Amino acid sequence: MDLTTRGETFGAERARGIFTEFYGDKPRVFRAPGRVNLIGEHTDYNDGFVMPAAIEFYTFAAIGPRADRKLSVYSDNFSEAVEFGLDRIDRGPTGHWSDYVRGVAGVLLSKGTKLGGANLVLRGEVPIGAGLSSSAAIEVAVANALLANSGVEMDRAEVSRVCQKAEHEYAGTMCGIMDQFIACFGQRQHALMLDCRSLFYQLLPLDDNARLVICNTNVKHELAGGEYNLRRASCEEGVRILRQHLPAIRALRDVTPADLEKFASEIPETTYRRCRHVVSEDVRVEKAARALLRGDMKEFGVLMAESHRSLRDDYEVSCAELDAMVEIASAIDGVYGARMTGGGFGGCTVNLVRADAVEAFTSTIKREYQRVTNLAADVYVCSAAEAAGEVVEDGAR
Ligand code: GLA
Repeated sequence: MDLTTRGETFGAERARGIFTEFYGDKPRVFRAPGRVNLIGEHTDYNDGFVMPAAIEFYTFAAIGPRADRKLSVYSDNFSEAVEFGLDRIDRGPTGHWSDYVRGVAGVLLSKGTKLGGANLVLRGEVPIGAGLSSSAAIEVAVANALLANSGVEMDRAEVSRVCQKAEHEYAGTMCGIMDQFIACFGQRQHALMLDCRSLFYQLLPLDDNARLVICNTNVKHELAGGEYNLRRASCEEGVRILRQHLPAIRALRDVTPADLEKFASEIPETTYRRCRHVVSEDVRVEKAARALLRGDMKEFGVLMAESHRSLRDDYEVSCAELDAMVEIASAIDGVYGARMTGGGFGGCTVNLVRADAVEAFTSTIKREYQRVTNLAADVYVCSAAEAAGEVVEDGAR
Protein backbone atom coordinates (compact mmCIF):
# COMPACT_ATOMS: atom_id res chain seq x y z
CA MET A 1 0.00 0.00 0.00
CA ASP A 2 1.48 3.26 -1.09
CA LEU A 3 -0.01 6.26 0.61
CA THR A 4 1.64 9.05 -1.30
CA THR A 5 1.12 10.77 -4.60
CA ARG A 6 4.70 10.39 -5.70
CA GLY A 7 4.78 10.45 -9.44
CA GLU A 8 8.05 10.26 -11.27
CA THR A 9 6.40 10.44 -14.65
CA PHE A 10 3.79 12.93 -13.56
CA GLY A 11 6.37 15.38 -12.16
CA ALA A 12 8.66 15.13 -15.15
CA GLU A 13 5.79 15.50 -17.59
CA ARG A 14 4.40 18.42 -15.69
CA ALA A 15 7.72 20.29 -15.74
CA ARG A 16 8.12 19.43 -19.42
CA GLY A 17 4.57 20.57 -20.23
CA ILE A 18 4.91 23.92 -18.46
CA PHE A 19 8.23 24.55 -20.15
CA THR A 20 6.81 23.87 -23.60
CA GLU A 21 3.79 26.05 -22.88
CA PHE A 22 6.04 28.97 -21.81
CA TYR A 23 8.82 28.71 -24.34
CA GLY A 24 7.43 26.69 -27.23
CA ASP A 25 10.47 24.34 -27.18
CA LYS A 26 11.10 20.90 -25.80
CA PRO A 27 13.33 20.98 -22.72
CA ARG A 28 15.65 18.39 -21.25
CA VAL A 29 14.45 17.21 -17.84
CA PHE A 30 16.63 16.31 -14.87
CA ARG A 31 15.53 14.95 -11.57
CA ALA A 32 17.11 14.45 -8.15
CA PRO A 33 15.72 12.48 -5.19
CA GLY A 34 15.15 13.34 -1.55
CA ARG A 35 16.66 11.07 1.09
CA VAL A 36 16.07 9.41 4.39
CA ASN A 37 18.91 8.73 6.76
CA LEU A 38 18.77 5.30 8.40
CA ILE A 39 21.45 6.03 10.97
CA GLY A 40 24.42 8.40 11.45
CA GLU A 41 22.84 11.71 12.38
CA HIS A 42 24.87 14.92 12.81
CA THR A 43 28.03 13.00 12.05
CA ASP A 44 28.64 14.20 8.48
CA TYR A 45 30.04 17.61 9.41
CA ASN A 46 32.27 15.84 11.94
CA ASP A 47 33.96 13.85 9.14
CA GLY A 48 32.11 10.76 10.35
CA PHE A 49 29.84 8.04 8.94
CA VAL A 50 26.26 8.21 7.67
CA MET A 51 23.85 5.70 6.12
CA PRO A 52 21.20 7.37 3.98
CA ALA A 53 19.07 6.03 1.14
CA ALA A 54 17.60 8.04 -1.72
CA ILE A 55 13.79 7.95 -1.77
CA GLU A 56 11.20 8.10 -4.53
CA PHE A 57 10.35 11.74 -4.04
CA TYR A 58 11.99 13.94 -6.65
CA THR A 59 12.59 17.48 -7.73
CA PHE A 60 12.45 18.01 -11.49
CA ALA A 61 14.24 20.68 -13.48
CA ALA A 62 13.24 21.25 -17.11
CA ILE A 63 15.83 23.28 -18.95
CA GLY A 64 16.51 24.86 -22.34
CA PRO A 65 19.15 27.32 -23.55
CA ARG A 66 18.72 31.10 -23.93
CA ALA A 67 20.75 33.35 -26.16
CA ASP A 68 21.54 35.92 -23.42
CA ARG A 69 23.40 35.60 -20.10
CA LYS A 70 20.30 35.22 -17.97
CA LEU A 71 18.70 32.49 -15.92
CA SER A 72 14.94 32.66 -15.90
CA VAL A 73 13.50 30.27 -13.31
CA TYR A 74 9.87 29.36 -12.72
CA SER A 75 8.77 27.36 -9.69
CA ASP A 76 5.60 25.38 -10.25
CA ASN A 77 5.23 24.87 -6.49
CA PHE A 78 5.32 28.59 -5.72
CA SER A 79 3.77 29.71 -9.05
CA GLU A 80 6.48 32.32 -9.22
CA ALA A 81 9.26 33.31 -11.64
CA VAL A 82 12.63 34.96 -10.94
CA GLU A 83 15.30 36.13 -13.32
CA PHE A 84 18.93 36.98 -12.75
CA GLY A 85 22.03 37.64 -14.81
CA LEU A 86 24.92 35.16 -14.78
CA ASP A 87 27.56 37.87 -14.74
CA ARG A 88 26.79 39.16 -11.28
CA ILE A 89 25.16 36.86 -8.75
CA ASP A 90 24.45 38.26 -5.29
CA ARG A 91 25.61 36.06 -2.42
CA GLY A 92 23.96 35.39 0.88
CA PRO A 93 20.64 33.98 2.00
CA THR A 94 17.38 35.84 1.36
CA GLY A 95 15.14 32.98 2.51
CA HIS A 96 13.56 32.75 -0.93
CA TRP A 97 13.27 29.41 -2.77
CA SER A 98 15.44 30.80 -5.55
CA ASP A 99 18.47 31.03 -3.18
CA TYR A 100 19.25 27.41 -4.06
CA VAL A 101 19.24 28.10 -7.79
CA ARG A 102 21.29 31.28 -7.42
CA GLY A 103 23.61 29.38 -5.11
CA VAL A 104 24.29 26.52 -7.49
CA ALA A 105 24.84 28.89 -10.43
CA GLY A 106 27.02 31.17 -8.28
CA VAL A 107 29.25 28.36 -6.99
CA LEU A 108 29.64 26.83 -10.46
CA LEU A 109 30.61 30.21 -11.91
CA SER A 110 33.04 30.91 -9.07
CA LYS A 111 34.83 27.66 -9.94
CA GLY A 112 35.27 28.92 -13.47
CA THR A 113 32.54 26.73 -14.99
CA LYS A 114 31.31 28.24 -18.25
CA LEU A 115 27.55 28.41 -17.92
CA GLY A 116 25.23 29.48 -20.69
CA GLY A 117 21.94 31.32 -20.16
CA ALA A 118 18.91 29.11 -19.56
CA ASN A 119 15.20 28.90 -18.97
CA LEU A 120 14.30 26.59 -16.11
CA VAL A 121 11.04 25.20 -14.82
CA LEU A 122 11.18 23.53 -11.39
CA ARG A 123 8.74 21.16 -9.83
CA GLY A 124 9.49 19.75 -6.39
CA GLU A 125 7.76 16.71 -4.97
CA VAL A 126 9.96 16.16 -1.93
CA PRO A 127 7.90 17.35 1.06
CA ILE A 128 9.34 20.74 2.08
CA GLY A 129 10.58 21.24 5.65
CA ALA A 130 10.11 17.56 6.47
CA GLY A 131 13.79 16.71 6.86
CA LEU A 132 13.81 14.71 3.63
CA SER A 133 16.30 17.00 1.88
CA SER A 134 14.11 18.92 -0.48
CA SER A 135 16.89 21.51 -0.66
CA ALA A 136 19.59 19.04 -1.77
CA ALA A 137 17.16 17.67 -4.35
CA ILE A 138 16.62 21.09 -5.89
CA GLU A 139 20.36 21.87 -5.79
CA VAL A 140 21.39 18.64 -7.48
CA ALA A 141 18.61 18.75 -10.10
CA VAL A 142 19.54 22.34 -10.96
CA ALA A 143 23.28 21.63 -11.01
CA ASN A 144 22.88 18.71 -13.41
CA ALA A 145 20.49 20.71 -15.58
CA LEU A 146 22.80 23.75 -15.79
CA LEU A 147 25.86 21.62 -16.51
CA ALA A 148 24.13 19.62 -19.25
CA ASN A 149 22.65 22.76 -20.76
CA SER A 150 26.16 24.22 -20.97
CA GLY A 151 27.77 21.04 -22.26
CA VAL A 152 30.00 20.71 -19.18
CA GLU A 153 30.87 17.35 -17.61
CA MET A 154 31.51 17.15 -13.88
CA ASP A 155 31.97 14.06 -11.73
CA ARG A 156 29.24 13.30 -9.23
CA ALA A 157 31.34 13.84 -6.12
CA GLU A 158 32.22 17.30 -7.36
CA VAL A 159 28.56 18.04 -8.10
CA SER A 160 27.68 17.14 -4.53
CA ARG A 161 30.45 19.41 -3.20
CA VAL A 162 29.25 22.30 -5.37
CA CYS A 163 25.72 21.85 -4.03
CA GLN A 164 26.90 21.68 -0.41
CA LYS A 165 28.83 24.92 -0.93
CA ALA A 166 25.74 26.54 -2.43
CA GLU A 167 23.84 25.63 0.73
CA HIS A 168 26.58 27.13 2.94
CA GLU A 169 27.06 30.34 1.01
CA TYR A 170 23.59 31.07 -0.32
CA ALA A 171 21.20 29.39 2.13
CA GLY A 172 23.24 29.93 5.30
CA THR A 173 23.14 26.35 6.64
CA MET A 174 26.56 24.89 7.38
CA CYS A 175 25.39 21.41 6.40
CA GLY A 176 27.54 18.34 5.88
CA ILE A 177 27.83 16.44 2.59
CA MET A 178 25.30 13.65 3.25
CA ASP A 179 22.20 15.01 1.51
CA GLN A 180 23.88 16.16 -1.68
CA PHE A 181 26.01 13.02 -1.87
CA ILE A 182 23.14 10.55 -1.58
CA ALA A 183 21.15 12.52 -4.17
CA CYS A 184 24.09 11.93 -6.56
CA PHE A 185 25.02 8.34 -5.58
CA GLY A 186 21.91 6.55 -4.25
CA GLN A 187 20.97 3.20 -5.69
CA ARG A 188 17.66 1.37 -5.88
CA GLN A 189 17.10 -1.10 -3.01
CA HIS A 190 20.30 0.01 -1.29
CA ALA A 191 21.35 2.13 1.62
CA LEU A 192 24.73 3.80 1.26
CA MET A 193 27.31 3.98 4.00
CA LEU A 194 29.49 7.01 3.46
CA ASP A 195 32.75 8.04 5.05
CA CYS A 196 32.24 11.79 4.98
CA ARG A 197 35.97 12.47 5.14
CA SER A 198 37.26 10.37 2.26
CA LEU A 199 33.89 10.11 0.46
CA PHE A 200 34.56 6.39 0.22
CA TYR A 201 31.18 4.63 0.17
CA GLN A 202 29.68 1.21 0.26
CA LEU A 203 26.24 0.25 -1.07
CA LEU A 204 24.37 -2.00 1.35
CA PRO A 205 21.45 -4.09 0.05
CA LEU A 206 18.25 -3.62 2.03
CA ASP A 207 16.40 -6.65 3.32
CA ASP A 208 13.49 -7.63 1.02
CA ASN A 209 11.33 -8.32 4.02
CA ALA A 210 11.74 -4.92 5.62
CA ARG A 211 10.16 -1.67 4.46
CA LEU A 212 11.37 1.84 4.98
CA VAL A 213 8.44 3.71 6.40
CA ILE A 214 8.75 7.44 6.89
CA CYS A 215 6.35 9.21 9.24
CA ASN A 216 6.00 12.97 9.05
CA THR A 217 5.17 14.71 12.34
CA ASN A 218 4.04 17.68 10.27
CA VAL A 219 5.78 20.06 12.64
CA LYS A 220 8.86 22.13 11.97
CA HIS A 221 10.11 24.13 14.91
CA GLU A 222 11.64 27.51 14.15
CA LEU A 223 14.89 26.71 15.93
CA ALA A 224 16.11 24.33 13.23
CA GLY A 225 18.53 26.50 11.21
CA GLY A 226 20.13 28.40 14.08
CA GLU A 227 20.43 25.42 16.38
CA TYR A 228 22.03 23.39 13.59
CA ASN A 229 24.90 25.83 13.27
CA LEU A 230 25.22 25.99 17.08
CA ARG A 231 25.58 22.19 17.27
CA ARG A 232 28.30 22.34 14.69
CA ALA A 233 30.10 25.03 16.71
CA SER A 234 29.89 22.86 19.88
CA CYS A 235 31.52 19.97 18.06
CA GLU A 236 34.32 22.25 16.91
CA GLU A 237 34.78 23.51 20.46
CA GLY A 238 35.08 19.90 21.65
CA VAL A 239 37.76 19.21 19.06
CA ARG A 240 39.72 22.34 20.10
CA ILE A 241 39.77 21.23 23.74
CA LEU A 242 40.62 17.61 22.98
CA ARG A 243 43.38 18.63 20.61
CA GLN A 244 45.41 19.95 23.54
CA HIS A 245 45.85 16.31 24.55
CA LEU A 246 45.37 14.59 21.22
CA PRO A 247 47.20 16.84 18.74
CA ALA A 248 46.60 14.49 15.80
CA ILE A 249 42.81 14.80 15.79
CA ARG A 250 41.13 16.93 13.15
CA ALA A 251 37.47 16.22 13.84
CA LEU A 252 35.30 14.22 16.26
CA ARG A 253 35.62 11.37 13.79
CA ASP A 254 39.15 10.86 15.11
CA VAL A 255 38.06 10.59 18.75
CA THR A 256 37.28 7.22 20.33
CA PRO A 257 34.72 6.83 23.13
CA ALA A 258 37.63 6.00 25.48
CA ASP A 259 39.49 9.20 24.52
CA LEU A 260 36.41 11.26 25.17
CA GLU A 261 35.89 9.69 28.60
CA LYS A 262 39.50 10.24 29.54
CA PHE A 263 39.30 14.00 29.01
CA ALA A 264 35.64 14.48 29.89
CA SER A 265 36.33 16.59 32.97
CA GLU A 266 38.00 19.27 30.85
CA ILE A 267 35.05 19.76 28.53
CA PRO A 268 32.03 21.88 29.53
CA GLU A 269 29.07 19.62 30.28
CA THR A 270 26.85 20.51 27.31
CA THR A 271 29.71 20.37 24.83
CA TYR A 272 30.73 17.02 26.28
CA ARG A 273 27.25 15.58 25.67
CA ARG A 274 27.24 16.91 22.09
CA CYS A 275 30.58 15.18 21.50
CA ARG A 276 29.37 11.98 23.16
CA HIS A 277 26.49 11.79 20.71
CA VAL A 278 28.75 12.16 17.67
CA VAL A 279 31.45 9.78 18.87
CA SER A 280 28.93 7.09 19.87
CA GLU A 281 26.88 7.58 16.68
CA ASP A 282 29.91 6.87 14.50
CA VAL A 283 30.38 3.57 16.34
CA ARG A 284 26.69 2.78 15.83
CA VAL A 285 26.85 3.37 12.08
CA GLU A 286 29.70 0.90 11.68
CA LYS A 287 27.85 -1.68 13.78
CA ALA A 288 24.64 -1.04 11.80
CA ALA A 289 26.42 -1.64 8.49
CA ARG A 290 27.71 -4.99 9.76
CA ALA A 291 24.23 -5.88 11.03
CA LEU A 292 22.67 -5.05 7.66
CA LEU A 293 25.24 -7.14 5.80
CA ARG A 294 24.45 -10.20 7.87
CA GLY A 295 20.69 -9.52 7.68
CA ASP A 296 20.36 -8.90 11.40
CA MET A 297 17.46 -6.47 11.41
CA LYS A 298 16.91 -6.88 15.12
CA GLU A 299 20.37 -5.56 15.92
CA PHE A 300 19.90 -2.78 13.38
CA GLY A 301 16.70 -1.76 15.16
CA VAL A 302 18.40 -1.70 18.57
CA LEU A 303 21.02 0.66 17.14
CA MET A 304 18.30 2.91 15.72
CA ALA A 305 16.71 3.14 19.16
CA GLU A 306 20.06 4.01 20.75
CA SER A 307 20.62 6.65 18.10
CA HIS A 308 17.27 8.26 18.85
CA ARG A 309 17.96 8.36 22.59
CA SER A 310 21.34 9.91 22.00
CA LEU A 311 19.89 12.58 19.69
CA ARG A 312 17.16 13.29 22.22
CA ASP A 313 19.20 13.37 25.42
CA ASP A 314 22.76 14.25 24.42
CA TYR A 315 22.45 16.20 21.19
CA GLU A 316 19.04 17.67 22.06
CA VAL A 317 17.73 17.96 18.52
CA SER A 318 14.53 15.96 18.96
CA CYS A 319 11.18 17.40 20.07
CA ALA A 320 8.03 16.20 21.82
CA GLU A 321 6.29 15.23 18.56
CA LEU A 322 9.25 13.18 17.26
CA ASP A 323 9.65 11.47 20.64
CA ALA A 324 5.95 10.63 20.76
CA MET A 325 6.06 9.19 17.27
CA VAL A 326 9.12 7.04 18.00
CA GLU A 327 7.59 5.81 21.23
CA ILE A 328 4.35 4.83 19.49
CA ALA A 329 6.20 3.11 16.65
CA SER A 330 8.53 1.17 18.95
CA ALA A 331 5.58 -0.50 20.65
CA ILE A 332 4.02 -1.76 17.39
CA ASP A 333 4.45 -5.39 16.42
CA GLY A 334 6.75 -5.93 13.44
CA VAL A 335 8.80 -2.76 13.94
CA TYR A 336 12.55 -3.45 13.96
CA GLY A 337 13.52 0.10 14.77
CA ALA A 338 12.37 3.72 14.81
CA ARG A 339 14.18 7.02 15.17
CA MET A 340 14.08 10.66 14.17
CA THR A 341 15.81 11.31 10.86
CA GLY A 342 17.53 14.39 9.44
CA GLY A 343 18.42 17.58 11.27
CA GLY A 344 15.64 17.32 13.88
CA PHE A 345 13.32 19.79 15.65
CA GLY A 346 10.40 18.27 13.77
CA GLY A 347 10.19 16.62 10.39
CA CYS A 348 10.16 12.86 10.07
CA THR A 349 10.93 9.59 11.75
CA VAL A 350 12.34 6.62 9.86
CA ASN A 351 10.99 3.18 10.70
CA LEU A 352 12.15 -0.24 9.61
CA VAL A 353 9.04 -2.37 9.50
CA ARG A 354 8.48 -6.02 8.61
CA ALA A 355 6.73 -6.03 5.22
CA ASP A 356 3.65 -7.89 6.45
CA ALA A 357 3.23 -5.47 9.36
CA VAL A 358 3.21 -2.25 7.34
CA GLU A 359 -0.54 -1.85 7.03
CA ALA A 360 -1.23 -2.30 10.72
CA PHE A 361 1.75 -0.05 11.49
CA THR A 362 0.38 2.74 9.31
CA SER A 363 -3.07 2.80 10.83
CA THR A 364 -1.78 2.55 14.40
CA ILE A 365 0.72 5.39 13.94
CA LYS A 366 -1.89 7.67 12.41
CA ARG A 367 -4.44 6.95 15.11
CA GLU A 368 -2.11 7.12 18.10
CA TYR A 369 -0.14 10.15 16.94
CA GLN A 370 -3.38 12.05 16.46
CA ARG A 371 -4.59 10.97 19.91
CA VAL A 372 -1.40 11.97 21.71
CA THR A 373 -0.53 15.21 19.88
CA ASN A 374 -3.76 16.31 18.24
CA LEU A 375 -1.89 16.43 14.95
CA ALA A 376 -2.28 14.41 11.76
CA ALA A 377 0.71 12.35 10.64
CA ASP A 378 1.63 11.55 7.06
CA VAL A 379 3.03 8.11 6.35
CA TYR A 380 5.17 7.30 3.32
CA VAL A 381 6.02 3.70 2.55
CA CYS A 382 9.23 4.03 0.58
CA SER A 383 11.72 2.07 -1.42
CA ALA A 384 15.34 3.08 -1.78
CA ALA A 385 15.57 4.92 -5.09
CA GLU A 386 18.08 5.65 -7.82
CA ALA A 387 20.34 8.71 -7.81
CA ALA A 388 19.83 11.89 -9.80
CA GLY A 389 19.73 11.68 -13.58
CA GLU A 390 18.11 12.81 -16.77
CA VAL A 391 14.53 11.77 -17.47
CA VAL A 392 14.19 11.04 -21.15
CA GLU A 393 10.77 11.19 -22.70
CA ASP A 394 9.85 7.51 -22.66
CA GLY A 395 10.44 7.50 -18.91
CA ALA A 396 13.83 5.78 -19.04
CA ARG A 397 16.96 7.52 -17.84
C1 GLA B 1 20.75 18.05 7.69
C2 GLA B 1 22.04 18.39 6.97
C3 GLA B 1 22.93 17.16 6.81
C4 GLA B 1 23.12 16.45 8.16
C5 GLA B 1 21.78 16.24 8.85
C6 GLA B 1 21.95 15.68 10.24
O1 GLA B 1 19.99 17.19 6.90
O2 GLA B 1 21.77 18.95 5.69
O3 GLA B 1 24.17 17.54 6.25
O4 GLA B 1 24.02 17.14 8.97
O5 GLA B 1 21.04 17.43 8.94
O6 GLA B 1 22.49 14.40 10.20
